[in-house]
Amino acid sequence: MVFHRTALRPSAPRIRFREDMMTLQDSSGPTGKVAVVVGAGSGIGAAAVVALAANGWSIAAIDQNLDAARAVVDAAGDRHAAFRADISREAEVIEAFAAIARTFGRVDGLAACAGVSDSTPFLDLDADTFARMFAINATGTFLAMREAVKLMPDGGRICTVSSVAGLRGGGVFGTAAYAASKGAIIALTKTAARTLAPRQITVNCLVPGPVQTPMLDAFWGDEAQRRRVEGMIPLGRPGRAAEVASAITWMFSPEAAFLTGSTVVVDGGMSMY
Ligand SMILES: NC(=O)c1ccc[n+]([C@@H]2O[C@H](COP(=O)([O-])OP(=O)(O)OC[C@H]3O[C@@H](n4cnc5c(N)ncnc54)[C@H](O)[C@@H]3O)[C@@H](O)[C@H]2O)c1
Repeated sequence: MVFHRTALRPSAPRIRFREDMMTLQDSSGPTGKVAVVVGAGSGIGAAAVVALAANGWSIAAIDQNLDAARAVVDAAGDRHAAFRADISREAEVIEAFAAIARTFGRVDGLAACAGVSDSTPFLDLDADTFARMFAINATGTFLAMREAVKLMPDGGRICTVSSVAGLRGGGVFGTAAYAASKGAIIALTKTAARTLAPRQITVNCLVPGPVQTPMLDAFWGDEAQRRRVEGMIPLGRPGRAAEVASAITWMFSPEAAFLTGSTVVVDGGMSMY
């Protein structure tokens, strides 16, 4: 496991953020609190880094793509660091959190955003594909939670990331393996919320609808598919990563202290159907 520390670097942005990653700036300055963002190198995780950093959090970014995570934290300011780990590999997750402990000393919030999708038709799915989806999406989320809690003081915050596929059983672009792994995250979130409530650690699950991120670039590029999915969303468009990440900032705020065990759906109204 390799980690990269940026804490002493100048804060000049090195990459240009796409507009969909921008967020309302709070500029309240450092809070002294540390958030781990898993899957920070792209999409919703990258937008969470931007949003949390703008609200004063220091970020420990984890991604299997270290260069991508490093670019995101470098652009977010000078008190963040990036760490490499494949979230499905237990030893790598343990090592990444050990490095975070050495660098930051504590973890006040965890946003477990890393995930992969799969759209293999039901009857073509094999056990390896199913196991891989679970290893990254469900087991990976569990491992990050378990290691984060070891470094978390009472009153900490955890946000997991499911999908409308986990509520609806797929039906948009993912199929059985993706939907089942995302449903598992909702159950896992509630288990953790119950377990950690005595310590006032809140655990909530963010449930995005379709969001325009690199995960689905090929999909959104297909005009017919785009029209089909937009037709399933009452607001008539996919979400932007920043619109989803803003829910994480809220979950981590003092105002959300009474929210735990919840599934917070941000989907343009899709799951009303
Ligand atoms: N984009 C959508 O429409 C959508 C909708 C619902 C839910 N989600 C969920 O939101 C989360 C983020 O998705 P996104 O659209 O931002 O995807 P993305 O592909 O843009 O970003 C995912 C990030 O996770 C990292 N990652 C993937 N596997 C990893 C692993 N094994 N270990 C460490 N890092 C890993 C990738 O390197 C990447 O940086 C996922 O859990 C996804 O299932 C996305």
